[in-house]
Amino acid sequence: MSIRNRTISTSRIQNGIFVYTALTFLTIFTVIISIIDNLLNIGVTKYSNPFLITIIFSIITVQILIWMIRNKGNRGIRYAFTHYSTVLNLRKTFLDSTYYNIRFHLNKKIAQLPKIKIDFEKGLSIGKLSIENIHLEKDLSSSNISIALNRYVVERSYLSRDEKYYIFEIYDSNINRQLTFESLDEFQEYSLKIEEQHLFIDKFTKIPMHSSLFVGQTGSGKTYALYSLILQMLLQKELYNLYFADPKSSSLSVIGEKITAHNSASNFNEIVNLLEDFNDLMNQYKFELKEKLGTKLEATYADFANPAHVLIFDEFASFHTELQTKDKKKRDEVMSLISQVVLQGRQLGFFIWFVMQKSDSNLIPTYIRENLPVKFVIGNAETQTNKTAFGTGVDTKEKNFQLGEGLFVCPLIANQPKLCHFSYLDFNILEAVDSLN
Ligand SMILES: Nc1ncnc2c1ncn2[C@@H]1O[C@H](COP(=O)(O)OP(=O)(O)O)[C@@H](O)[C@H]1O
Ligand SMILES: [Mg+2]
Repeated sequence: MSIRNRTISTSRIQNGIFVYTALTFLTIFTVIISIIDNLLNIGVTKYSNPFLITIIFSIITVQILIWMIRNKGNRGIRYAFTHYSTVLNLRKTFLDSTYYNIRFHLNKKIAQLPKIKIDFEKGLSIGKLSIENIHLEKDLSSSNISIALNRYVVERSYLSRDEKYYIFEIYDSNINRQLTFESLDEFQEYSLKIEEQHLFIDKFTKIPMHSSLFVGQTGSGKTYALYSLILQMLLQKELYNLYFADPKSSSLSVIGEKITAHNSASNFNEIVNLLEDFNDLMNQYKFELKEKLGTKLEATYADFANPAHVLIFDEFASFHTELQTKDKKKRDEVMSLISQVVLQGRQLGFFIWFVMQKSDSNLIPTYIRENLPVKFVIGNAETQTNKTAFGTGVDTKEKNFQLGEGLFVCPLIANQPKLCHFSYLDFNILEAVDSLN
C-alpha cells in the first residue's frame, strides 16, 4: 500500500493518540516520582505507586477488552488478529482513496470512515464483509477491496436489501477448496456426513438436486465431476435412480452399463427410447402425486419418499446435432420429451443433467438452457460460453482454473457465479462402481 502523507485523521486515530499519550505521560510520571522518591527518601511512592499503576493497568485492560470485542476475540486469537489486520487495511485504503465523509470533532476536520463488519467462517477460509454505503459519488469496486484484503479475494458482491451496506463475499485464495480422496472408503465416509438430498462438490459447496448443465472443454474434468456425483448417488441407492445417455459411447457409458444396463443408451434411437420411457415414468408419477397432493400442496417427490430420477446426458451437443438431421416432427417430439422433464420434473423428482463442451444456442436450445436452475462451467471457458451459461450481465473473472475447477450458479446457493472445485478422485472408478453395485 502506498504511504501517503495523510492530512486527515479519524476519530479512532485521535482516540488512539489520546490514549497512548495519556499512558506514556502516566508511565513517565510514575517513573519520575519513583526516582525522586528514591533520591530524597520522602516515602510517597508507597501511596502513589499503587494508585498510578492501577490507573495505567486499568487503561491497558480496557483497551485490550475493546480490541477483543471489536475483533471478536471470543472466536480465537487468530480470528481476532485476522479481523484486526483486515479492518486496518480496509480503513487505510478508505483513507487513501478518500472514501469517507467529513465530520467536525472538537472543531477539527476528521474523516468518518464507513462502518466495516466482517464475519469469517470455516476456519477463516471464507467470510462476509459488509461495508457501509455512505452514498458518495464513488462506488466501492471489488478490485479496490481485493487489494486491501491481502490473501482474501472477492468472490461476489452486492448491495444489501436495505442498500445500507455493500456486501462482499470473500475467500482465502491460499486455501484449496478441492477435496481429495484416495479410496472409495474415504469418499464414502465424507459423503455420509452430507445432509440428505444434497450432493457435495467441494469443501464449501453442496447442492440440492436440480436439472443441471455441465459445460467445459474436453479434458476440463466434466466426466470426472459426474463420477464424483454418481458415486454419491450410488452410496444412497434408495434416494436416486440413475439413467445414462452417452451418444459418443465414451467412458460414462461403460459406467452406465455397469450400474443399470437397461437404463443406459448410447446410440440415437436408444437414447430417444430412453427419453420416452423416462417421460412415461414421470407422467405415471404425476398421476400418483396428484392424488397425494390433496393432502399436502407444496410437497415434492422427496416428501413422499420417492427417489429422484436422474438422467445423465453426456455429450448432449452430439445428440442434438444428429437430431437436426431428422424431420421436423421427430425433432419436435424429442425436444418436447426433454423440455417436459426440465419444466415439470422438479416436483415429480425427474431431472436431466446435460453435459457438453459449449452451451451455444445451436447446441442446446435457449429455452431449455434458461430453465436449468444449476449450471457449471468447468475449466477455462471462452467468454462466449460463460455468457451463454450465466447471462451477459454477469461478470465472470478470468482465473486460471485447474482440473475440475470452475464456476457455478444454483438457486439460493449461488445467484451469481461462484467458484467450485470438484473432488480429485485418486482411485479406480470402475472398481468403485463395481463394489457399490
Ligand atoms: N477430479 C478428477 N480426479 C482425477 N482425475 C481427473 C479429475 N478430473 C479430470 N481428471 C483427469 O483428466 C482427464 C480428463 O478429464 P475428463 O473428466 O475426462 O474431462 P472431460 O469429460 O471434460 O473431457 C481424466 O481422464 C482424468 O485422468
Ligand atoms: Mg467427458
